[in-house]
Amino acid sequence: MKKKPVSLFLIFLSCIFLFSACSSKSVPDAGSTSLVSLPAELTATQPRHPSSTEAPTSATQASVGGETQSSPTETNGKKLAAITFDDGPGPYTKYLIEELNKRGAKATFFMLGQNAEKYGDTIQLMCESGHQLGSHTYSHKDITKLSDEQFLDELNRTDEAIKKGCGQIATAFRPPYGNYTKEKLSLQKKTPTHWSVDTMDWKNKNADKIKQHIITHIKDGSIILLHDIYESSVQGALAAIDVLIGEGFQFVTVDELVVRNGDPITPHEIYFSCVPKNKDE
Ligand code: NI
Repeated sequence: MKKKPVSLFLIFLSCIFLFSACSSKSVPDAGSTSLVSLPAELTATQPRHPSSTEAPTSATQASVGGETQSSPTETNGKKLAAITFDDGPGPYTKYLIEELNKRGAKATFFMLGQNAEKYGDTIQLMCESGHQLGSHTYSHKDITKLSDEQFLDELNRTDEAIKKGCGQIATAFRPPYGNYTKEKLSLQKKTPTHWSVDTMDWKNKNADKIKQHIITHIKDGSIILLHDIYESSVQGALAAIDVLIGEGFQFVTVDELVVRNGDPITPHEIYFSCVPKNKDE
């Protein structure tokens, strides 16, 4: 009989953990409210970022390091979304950054190391402008088919290429094709990022369709997938941003989005979206 209060307490604790973290492992496009992250004190034993000099410029202070309790991102009543670009940098990326800056919009760039080597100036502007640096492996590999050593080599080579551009390394990671295993994610410390809105921009290559897709599917908390290697994607994204800013959206980095509710980033989970706490989607 003495055990009963302890059991009830454990159930109570479990409930708190289940409903306190940001959505991180839901089904894409579900506008998720499923909550599975464990509290940081049970999972994060070391800083997510290798050193303070390599900390991101774009993330809120709360998210840097990830080992301490985060503070909610200041929203001023705005709806938040993270716009993300994969497979670059490319010939349109510098223009995209300049146009994002004019609009006060932040983005996250999941770069290929092999492209980062060619666009050092673009990466420097990316850093200076406060966008988040992301890794997408060196050569767009399906990481589920790599050994642990090969996976880490892809990440390290990409970080070296990005570091040549602006002295910092990637603080977010998106696995190519969205393919991952928990085991692979646990080997690294960047914010694992999936998406909740897939524009299919690489397929339709039509700026107006891309714009309409974003406007139709975006929700407060969405992570939007685009590719900055296509001019149509860049134009479609900017056109959508113009409309959505007028509708009360603020575009933030992935790290800023996923700490919005004050929960720490959990590098072993992958984020699809991050809706505001207490909001049913
Ligand atoms: Ni890709």
